[in-house]
Amino acid sequence: MTSFTKQVALVTGAGSGIGRATALAFGALGAAVVVSDINDANGQATVALIEEAGGTASYTRCNVADAEAHKAAVAYAVATYGRLDIAVNNAGIGGNFARLIDQTPADWEQMMAVNLGGVFYGLQAQIRQMLTQPEGGKIVNVASIAGVKGMPMGGPYSAAKHGVIGLTKTAALEYVKKKIRVNAICPVYTHSAMVHDLMSQMPDMEERMRRVIPMGRFGQPEEIAQAIVWLCADENAFCTGQAIQMDGGMTAG
Ligand SMILES: NC(=O)c1ccc[n+]([C@@H]2O[C@H](COP(=O)([O-])OP(=O)(O)OC[C@H]3O[C@@H](n4cnc5c(N)ncnc54)[C@H](O)[C@@H]3O)[C@@H](O)[C@H]2O)c1
Repeated sequence: MTSFTKQVALVTGAGSGIGRATALAFGALGAAVVVSDINDANGQATVALIEEAGGTASYTRCNVADAEAHKAAVAYAVATYGRLDIAVNNAGIGGNFARLIDQTPADWEQMMAVNLGGVFYGLQAQIRQMLTQPEGGKIVNVASIAGVKGMPMGGPYSAAKHGVIGLTKTAALEYVKKKIRVNAICPVYTHSAMVHDLMSQMPDMEERMRRVIPMGRFGQPEEIAQAIVWLCADENAFCTGQAIQMDGGMTAG
């Protein structure tokens, strides 16, 4: 397994689910991890888990909808550990589970602010720092299968995740000569607080979701984290601008 010793990784939304699993994976592989979230207690709990496992981590609050907060998070990483090699734009919300005509302007605006703006402003702050480093950097944006397929009852979510993939491809092309690689990961339903909230809204939801995944099960956050780690590995230096689907075979058919 690749080592990230002497590298610094920033993970947004790292207080829970896929973000926490990703922060733990980088910590276990030797990176110094900047854990960020809007839930301070959960973020600090992730730091404690990394430290208990022998890793290095610290917490800074970052509301990803706020461009200034991204600048501050990157500045914190540089002030604390001297650089930023890896950024994972993971924080996101599930939004209102409703048909298009029942989604309100507030539903739309919140989704765009967090799930799309959160990646856009993150990329800006992270790339500005990586441009100052001769080694460049690696960025992974957490999109979704809803970024490559429509999602009935999740119109704003699907629009935001399609947008994340567009930003990923554009950033990859703009900075390919600056040694900054930018990729996206597209998970299918993965066990996390977000998906459990969704399932609690509809009793038969879990079974219906499972049926559309050829492997017949949801993903685990740790499985998504390993794909993110792989995308950031220096052995994987030829891969940029991709949206990798982690979906138990769902989009193969
Ligand atoms: N779980 C799935 O099935 C699934 C599938 C595809 C994509 N995703 C994506 O994976 C990412 C992580 O989701 P998860 O499933 O781990 O959910 P989760 O709810 O377990 O974790 C999301 C984290 O993001 C944080 N967060 C929410 N709004 C924030 C904000 N404005 N600023 C900073 N942090 C914020 C939350 O506090 C939480 O810690 C999201 O982008 C989500 O869209 C999840």
